[in-house]
Amino acid sequence: MTDMIVETLLHSNDSQDQTRLFPFTKHQWQSGGLPDRLTEFGIPQSRNISPVYNGDNGESLLVFSQSGTRVVLIPLPEPLRFEKVQKAFKTLSHKRRSYFQGTAVLDLRHFADADIGLLSDAAISGLMLGSYETGLYKDPEKRPPHPLRGPEAKVCILTNESAVPAATDGSQMATATASTQLRIMELVNAPSNKKTPADLAQWAAASARQFGYQAAAIGRDELEEMGMHALLGVNRGSEHPACLIVTEYRPSQPINSQPVALVGKGVTFDTGGLSIKPSTNMHYMKSDMGGAAAVLGTMELAARLSLPVHLVGVVPATDNSVDALSIKPGDVLDSYSGKTIEVIDTDAEGRLILADALSWTVRKYNPEYLIDLATLTGSAIRTFGYAGAAMMSNSDELADSLFHSGMTTGERVWRLPLWEDYAEEMVSDIADVRNLSARPAAGAITAGKFLEHFIEGHTNWAHMDIAGVAFGESGLSRDKSATGFGPRLLTNWLTQHFSAKKGG
Ligand code: BES
Ligand code: MN
Ligand code: ZN
Repeated sequence: MTDMIVETLLHSNDSQDQTRLFPFTKHQWQSGGLPDRLTEFGIPQSRNISPVYNGDNGESLLVFSQSGTRVVLIPLPEPLRFEKVQKAFKTLSHKRRSYFQGTAVLDLRHFADADIGLLSDAAISGLMLGSYETGLYKDPEKRPPHPLRGPEAKVCILTNESAVPAATDGSQMATATASTQLRIMELVNAPSNKKTPADLAQWAAASARQFGYQAAAIGRDELEEMGMHALLGVNRGSEHPACLIVTEYRPSQPINSQPVALVGKGVTFDTGGLSIKPSTNMHYMKSDMGGAAAVLGTMELAARLSLPVHLVGVVPATDNSVDALSIKPGDVLDSYSGKTIEVIDTDAEGRLILADALSWTVRKYNPEYLIDLATLTGSAIRTFGYAGAAMMSNSDELADSLFHSGMTTGERVWRLPLWEDYAEEMVSDIADVRNLSARPAAGAITAGKFLEHFIEGHTNWAHMDIAGVAFGESGLSRDKSATGFGPRLLTNWLTQHFSAKKGG
C-alpha cells in the first residue's frame, strides 16, 4: 500500500526540517506493530525504550532518529475519544512549541481507517488551539509567534491511501473549526475597553462579509421604538449604546423550512450594576459575552462548512455598568414581550437582555428550534465546575440530541430540570415576574425558569448556561481564559440532527 501525504496547509512551506508526530495506543505499543515503525527511523525497538518509557504517564517523549528527524511519541488513552486526542495534541502544541519549528508530519499509518477522521480532526484542531497565545498586548519582539501560527506553518498527515478521504475531511473540519474557535477566543479574552457592543457588531459584520452570511445591528433608537425595554434598562448605566446584532445564514437549498435560532448573551462587561459585584475576580466579567461569541462563531463556522441549514443568530449586546442613570434594585421594567419585570438584583442582567432577545426572535423568525447560550449564573459553575455546561430544555428530543453532540465533541452539556416547583421563586408581588429567586438555591434553574416566561410558548427551546465552560480552564494561560466553547458543539448538532431528519 502506498503511503500518502495529506497536506493540511495552515500556510505553505517547503522546509525539509521535520517533526514526526507519532501518536500511539497502549495496545499498539504492546502488540509489536510499533517497533517496526520506529526502526524505520533508526530508533531502537520499543523493548529497549519500554523500561524507561511506555506512555503510561500520559506524557509525550521526544526522540531523535539517526537522520535527525524529531520523533514525538504521543500516548493516547483508549478507547479513542475526540476530546482526549484533542487535549493530548493541544497540550503538546502549547507546552512544547519548540518542537514545531520545521514541518510537522502526523503519522497515522498504524491506525485503522475507521479512526482516521476522528484522529485527524482531533489532532489538527488540538495543535491549532494549543498555538493560541493570550499575550496580545505584550511586546511582540519579546515573544515570537508560535510556529504553528506563523506564515510558515504546515502540518502533513501521513496515512494509508484508503484513509485519505477521511484524513482530508477530518483535517478540513479541524482547520475550519479551530480557526473560528481561535477567533472567538480572541474576542472573549479581549478586555472590555476593546469590545464595546459596536465592536461586537463590527466583528459580526466583518465575519459575515468574509464567510458569506448576513449581519446587521439594530441601534439604541430603533430598540426604543421596538420596545426592547429590558435590554435598554440594563444599558441605562452605560456610555456605550446597546445594540441587537442580528445575523442570518441561508444556504441556497436549506433542509429546514423554519430556521434554527441561536441567541447569545452579549454583556461586554458585567460590574453587577448598582448591585455591584465584589472586586475580587471582577476582571473575569469581560468574558460575559461568551454566549455571544458562541453564537457568532457558530454562524461563521456554519457558513464556512456550507451547512445546509437555515440559521439565525441574535445577540443582545450591552455592558452592565454603574452610573447615576443605572436601573436600581426594585425598579420595574417593561419588556418587548409586554410582561413587566421587577428588578430585584441588577446583577441578574443577562436574563433581562435575553428576555427581550428571545421573545423578539420567536416573533420575528418563528424558528423551529430556539437555543440560547449565556454565561448566566455562578450557580452553573458551582454545579458543574468547568467540566460542562448546564442545559435546560422543554423538549426531550432536543435535550437528548444536544447531550449526544456534547459527548461526541467534548463540549459537554448536562440537563437540569425545569420543574414547576421552581416557578414560584420568580413570582413578583408587584410585577408579572421578578428577576431574582426568593431563595439562594437552584440559581441556574431559576434563571432558566425566568427565561421560560419570554419564549412565547416555543416548544423546542434549549438554554445553555455556559458560565463555567466559556472562560476557565483552557490550559492556555495562568489565569482563566477563553475556551472557544460552542461552535463545534452546535455545528455537530446541526449536522447530526438535520442529516438524521433528512435520512428519515
Ligand atoms: N455574568 C454573571 C454570571 C457569571 C458568574 C458568569 C461567574 C461567569 C462567572 C451573571 O450576570 C450574574 O451576575 N449572575 C448572578 C445572578 C444572581 C444575581 C441571581 C450570580 O450568578 O451570582
Ligand atoms: Mn450579572
Ligand atoms: Zn452577567
